[in-house]
Amino acid sequence: MQADHLRSKYLEFFKNRGHSIIPSSALVPENDPTTLFTGSGMQPMIEYLLGAKHPKGTRIADSQKCFRSQDIEEVGDNRHTTFFEMLGNWSLGDYFKKEQLTWFFEFLTKEVGLDPNKLFVTVFRGNDSLGIGKDAESVAIWKELFAGVGITATDVDFSERDGMQGGRIFYFDEKKNWWSRAGVPANMPEGEPGGPDSEVFYDFGVEKKLHENSVFKDEPCHVNCDCGRFLEIGNSVFMQYQKQADGSFKELAQKNVDFGGGFERILAVKQDTDDVFLTPIFEPIITFLETVSGKQYSDEKVKQSFRVIADHMRAATMLAADGVYPSSKEQGYFARRLVRRAIRYAKMIGIEQPFVAELSKVVANLYSHAYPDVAQNIETVSQGLAIEEKKFANTLQKGLREVEKVEKLTGEVAFKLYETYGFPFELSQEIAKEKGYDLSQEEFDSAKQAHADQSRTASAGKFKGGLQDSSEQTTKYHTATHLLHAALRKILGSHVQQKGSNITAERLRFDFSHPTALTDTEKNAVEAQINEWIQADLPVTVQTMEKKSALESGAIAFFVEKYPDQVTVYTIGNDPETNWISKEFCGGPHVKHTGEIGTIKIEKEKAAAAGIRRVYLV
Ligand code: ALA
Repeated sequence: MQADHLRSKYLEFFKNRGHSIIPSSALVPENDPTTLFTGSGMQPMIEYLLGAKHPKGTRIADSQKCFRSQDIEEVGDNRHTTFFEMLGNWSLGDYFKKEQLTWFFEFLTKEVGLDPNKLFVTVFRGNDSLGIGKDAESVAIWKELFAGVGITATDVDFSERDGMQGGRIFYFDEKKNWWSRAGVPANMPEGEPGGPDSEVFYDFGVEKKLHENSVFKDEPCHVNCDCGRFLEIGNSVFMQYQKQADGSFKELAQKNVDFGGGFERILAVKQDTDDVFLTPIFEPIITFLETVSGKQYSDEKVKQSFRVIADHMRAATMLAADGVYPSSKEQGYFARRLVRRAIRYAKMIGIEQPFVAELSKVVANLYSHAYPDVAQNIETVSQGLAIEEKKFANTLQKGLREVEKVEKLTGEVAFKLYETYGFPFELSQEIAKEKGYDLSQEEFDSAKQAHADQSRTASAGKFKGGLQDSSEQTTKYHTATHLLHAALRKILGSHVQQKGSNITAERLRFDFSHPTALTDTEKNAVEAQINEWIQADLPVTVQTMEKKSALESGAIAFFVEKYPDQVTVYTIGNDPETNWISKEFCGGPHVKHTGEIGTIKIEKEKAAAAGIRRVYLV
């Protein structure tokens, strides 16, 4: 398949240039409580960019699965997707601008086969207040590279004001040609690394710009315009600075390269189309939708719906494969929005029958080579998503029934529907419109805020880490919680994440992410595993550690909250460094040896929310 071919080609190209190829990290960052999703290739690399030694050396490349939840509303045009793959290569204090720009240019023109005449580039204009000058070094390299293929590349400034001016290399300020996880220099927190970057754009020709209906028709032509003439396909970040407490920038001890290329976009320009949904990575999805809807993607009336469904179901499938199932909390909330939005758009193009499970199988198949775990887990994934589809059908039915009863769909009513049934606000808004009045986001938000204020007051003082007192019995249950967590992860898989717990003197209740009910075999296996660990009378040790080294040692810290620099870590096992079965960030208290707990039994297992199971253990 063409998509697999492009991905391997890229990795092969960098392997031949001394890079170690590493697998993609999961879409949910393993040990980074500051962000819900992996949204760029460099996120899992941050420690190494800051100077930690990477076990695979100083040249690394991969194709990283990414999800950007902030792009959900943007999906529907020809280029935005929530899930995408980022082709990445990194120099960790190894090579710098010369090699990076040369290799990427070579990859695009020789390996992908793009016409260099259609490539345009940008570089950082410089900013005196940052004490960082214009990137003349990159300009010189680009000129040489283009000269090598017979093109005289002129650098011009202020194309955003004066147009292209016959240039090929364009200067832009830090809004466009600076990259950090936090964006522009002013938004970066102390300690954050970042730097100027150089982007490559593909030119689809001037026609769009000149089209008589174009809203951009009278604006100066430049590569960062949204008219559709140009598409950014790759970004080389020269990550060499670190933000200081006083707001200034200091050079990092090592100069890094952080490159990110849009896999789907390169696939698109390879076939000279500006529509990523027309590339091989989307083709089977589009074909599937054409079959079930009886409509054609080429029909402008349905195109946007096709794109939303295709993007959202691809993303939901990939998220589920990484353990994120639709729910009302954290990452699961986005998975829910994706599936529900996909279903709403499917209805708009006449798909009334259930389609989610089948479509997720089409998606898994697309990645059977690159991410085989998706296909391996597809039964669980498709079932989990189908459950959400069924739930949403109920929601719609109940919600619509309620709507019939009320006189007017106010912000408060819309919020009630949302709270009680998960009835989407956008749908309330559409219904209100049909009935001839407006329902604003503000009305809905203020009803939501009023509700949040109320429940905050109610819960103040109630929550104490799920632990009501520290009597001997609850201490035992607390250690049993860690054993249960470890056993579930061992037997069901590492997608299991603790979602909550509650201990009384009588029992332990534990919520965790998992799409389906536990079978008897699974339940018995979990129970037997815990009892085996209890029998082994494993020691429980506590250490105070630097947060960073705790994470590096494999400790898990699932709750998205800020941990201090010094954390306490509880480890269960004969050796806290080399031979352990559980290691968690935790405030304690715990028993000294697992034998103190006594035999346990799983009393009950049931659903707590979509994608979340609940067990009671005595
Ligand atoms: N980290 C850079 C980006 O995401 C390459 O664009």
